[in-house]
Amino acid sequence: MRYLTFALTKGRLANKTMELLEKTGITCDEMKDPASRKLIFVNEELKLRFFLAKGPDVPTYVEYGAADIGVVGKDTIDEENRKLYEVLDLGFGKCRMCVCGPASAKELLKKQERIRVATKYPRIAKDYFYNKKCQTVEIIKLNGSIELAPIVGLSEVIVDIVETGATLRENGLEVLEEVCPLSARVVVNRVSMQMESERITKILKALKDVL
Ligand code: PRP
Repeated sequence: MRYLTFALTKGRLANKTMELLEKTGITCDEMKDPASRKLIFVNEELKLRFFLAKGPDVPTYVEYGAADIGVVGKDTIDEENRKLYEVLDLGFGKCRMCVCGPASAKELLKKQERIRVATKYPRIAKDYFYNKKCQTVEIIKLNGSIELAPIVGLSEVIVDIVETGATLRENGLEVLEEVCPLSARVVVNRVSMQMESERITKILKALKDVL
C-alpha cells in the first residue's frame, strides 16, 4: 500500500488538526516531540505520512500531488486559487476576512472612491472590490502587520483577517465591511480523490463523525 500524505499548516492549525485526527484513531507520536527538527512524520501501521508547511505552500503541495490531503485556512485556499477539491470545513480557526480602516474611511467606501487597499491577500481583495463591489481601487501587497498601512498613510483601508478584533481596537481601526467568513478546511488532490477514493472517503467520514 502506498503512503497517503498529509500537508498540514505549521502552527496552531496543525496542532488542532492532529488533535482531531487522534479522536478518529489516527495518531503520529513522532510528531509530538517539540524539540525535533524533522520535517516529515510517518505512521507505518496506517501507511500515513504527515509534513508541516507554511500555509500558502499547502495548496501547492496538494495541487501537484506531493500531498494527497491538506489542511489549510479558507483565506489561503482562496488566495492561492490552486486546482484542488475543498471537501470539509473543520470548524476551527474561525475568523473573518474584512475591509478595515479608520471610521473616516466609511465615506470613501460609500462614494466608491479610488482608494488604496493594503493587504496580504491581493487576489481576495481584488475579487471583492472589482467583482463584488464594482469599485476600482489600487491594491498594495504587504506581508504582515497590515494594520500599520492606514495608520502611517500607505492606504486608506486594509483587507485582513479579524479574529478577536483586538489588533484593530488597539490601533484605532474598525471593521468597515465583511468580505467572508473563514475557517480551517480539508483539501484533496484531484487525482488522489479518484485513485485513493476509498481511503480518503473513510478518513473524511471519520473526521465528520468526531466534529
Ligand atoms: C492576523 C491578522 C491580524 C490579526 C487579527 O495577523 O492579520 O493582524 O491576526 O487578530 P485579532 O482580531 O484577534 O487581533 P497575524 O498575527 O497572523 O500576523 P501578521 O500581522 O504577520 O499577518
